[in-house]
Amino acid sequence: MKIGILTSGGDCAGLNAVIRAIGLYCFENIPGVEIVGIPDGYGGLIRGDSFRMSESDLGDILDRGGTVLGTSRQPFKRMTVEENGESRLERMCENYKKMGLDCLFTLGGAGTHKTAALLSFEGCNVIGLPKTIDNDIYGTDVTFGFQTAVEVVTDSLDRIKTTVASHRRTMLVEIMGNKAGWLTLHSGIAAGADMILIPEMPIDVDAVCEFVSSGRRDKPYNIIAVAEGAILASEAAYKKSERAFARAYMGETTITRHLAEVIGEKTGTETRYTVLGYLQRGGTPCAYDRLLCTRLGGFAAKLAKEGRFGVTAAVVGGKITFNALSDIAGKYKLVDPKGPAVACAKSLGIGFGTK
Ligand code: F6P
Repeated sequence: MKIGILTSGGDCAGLNAVIRAIGLYCFENIPGVEIVGIPDGYGGLIRGDSFRMSESDLGDILDRGGTVLGTSRQPFKRMTVEENGESRLERMCENYKKMGLDCLFTLGGAGTHKTAALLSFEGCNVIGLPKTIDNDIYGTDVTFGFQTAVEVVTDSLDRIKTTVASHRRTMLVEIMGNKAGWLTLHSGIAAGADMILIPEMPIDVDAVCEFVSSGRRDKPYNIIAVAEGAILASEAAYKKSERAFARAYMGETTITRHLAEVIGEKTGTETRYTVLGYLQRGGTPCAYDRLLCTRLGGFAAKLAKEGRFGVTAAVVGGKITFNALSDIAGKYKLVDPKGPAVACAKSLGIGFGTK
């Protein structure tokens, strides 16, 4: 059996731990198996690049951040567009055959899964694995890389707190997550943020300012955790492209700086903002992710051995299982504004910038 592995989309901690688990399971349980790594995500498959991986490539990568295979973003909407008489999808299918693959593992986020579903419809034997710090893949309780990012962001918020408290300021901290606010919500609660602003709950600026002005009973400063995809209530009716245009006119891509300015002006509080950026994706996976990645990788490799393809590994109710790619592709798991985590935070007085 010959298997290929690729990592696609934004990197995160735990990708190498999954590669290792898939590889070790296969070497241990599938006699004569050959494993190839495909560099740079779907980019490598489009080009037809691969390299043989041996056990010695896997031995030392459990705790290494990023991906030893390299990754790239290949927009889904361009996959079926013809370029020089052939689409990227067609080229990938051809290269899958040329490489003689019996199975392809695609480690990636929601976009990666959409392309994986296309490859599967075209007859390639694909098994997905749910990666992203955004935790927004449909059909799984959790994605690998998420918990590590929660630890990193929580630690960053803890550190920011000491300077904010010393100056009695209001600080907006921008956290990754374009469509989904999971990372902002979980790390915000874990770090004791005063307000949490997420894409799923459009922001009423007056409500934010009232919250800041009224002050907390317990302390004279405010930490506001803002997801990079947070939107103003006044933007909620816009399409994504219209919003991007309006933001570009303001000279912004995210709302954080603008919001800090308005809060400062309207409330008279000394207000600052900071963007955590790519630090959130870096570093070694936490123990939770190492365990999750090892379980998911081993499970996915077992699916390959059993000949079960067109699926993606998932965690449902704490159990490792799988979903059909066709059932989850194109869907997102978003924060429910009426769900338990938001309800608990609200019950403690944490604001969400809504009236
Ligand atoms: O998909 C994870 C993610 O980190 C998002 O939270 C963020 O919006 C995006 O990737 C950034 O992507 P890029 O690495 O392409 O700038």
